[in-house]
Amino acid sequence: MRIICAKDYKEMSEMAADIIGAQVLLKPDAVLGLATGSTPIGTYEELVRRYEAGRLDFGKIKTVNLDEYRGLTRDNDQSYYYFMHSHLFDHININKNNTNVPDGMEPDALKAGQDYENIIKNYGGIDLQLLGLGNNGHIGFNEPGDEFIDKTHVVDLTESTIEANKRFFASVDDVPKQAYTMGIGSIMRAKRVLMVVNGKGKAEIVKEAFFGPITPKVPASILQLHNDFILIGDVEALSCL
Ligand code: GLP
Repeated sequence: MRIICAKDYKEMSEMAADIIGAQVLLKPDAVLGLATGSTPIGTYEELVRRYEAGRLDFGKIKTVNLDEYRGLTRDNDQSYYYFMHSHLFDHININKNNTNVPDGMEPDALKAGQDYENIIKNYGGIDLQLLGLGNNGHIGFNEPGDEFIDKTHVVDLTESTIEANKRFFASVDDVPKQAYTMGIGSIMRAKRVLMVVNGKGKAEIVKEAFFGPITPKVPASILQLHNDFILIGDVEALSCL
């Protein structure tokens, strides 16, 4: 595990874009695992800026996103499909046929999970997986529980996640109660994992996840076992270390 301290959100985003950008340059047909949430927005802005400056080419890149709310249509502005298009895909030269977000409208959870795992498998796995960190230690939507779940599956969102994410919806009742998420194994099989985290509110959970026991009660803690895991945090997020 490598921990990099950035002085602020802007520097964190630039450093993350440096690493993703290097992956794109070194392997123009790389498979990128992508994340949503407010933390990676600055990273996506940086990638778009570098594309516009002619420094990055996404023409052959393939992407798989971590998760999607169950029951939201793609044109819902709170869906992660919509988020990825408005923050990244609509602004770079990626072939949209090569971008993937779990299908939140697939009613059959088993099929949704298997279809998504097949996409990852057919791509030959993920080269670089970008992650944010939930307030309760979740990654993707792998919530704290009694066991690590391997593959893409349906999850019941915890009260704390629904509470944390209600800021994006008209009311708490509008926040979906379930989501499809890549599993812990789907994430851990990525060749490299890059997490971005910022702000004082994440300082305690960063310490617990990366300097505490490896436990499904803090899903991100399993990243301690990944042999190419980079954590980029701003000063505030790393302030408890
Ligand atoms: C959501 C996403 C996660 C994300 C987390 C933190 O629940 N499913 O992938 O990491 O929120 O979000 P934020 O970056 O807004 O703190």
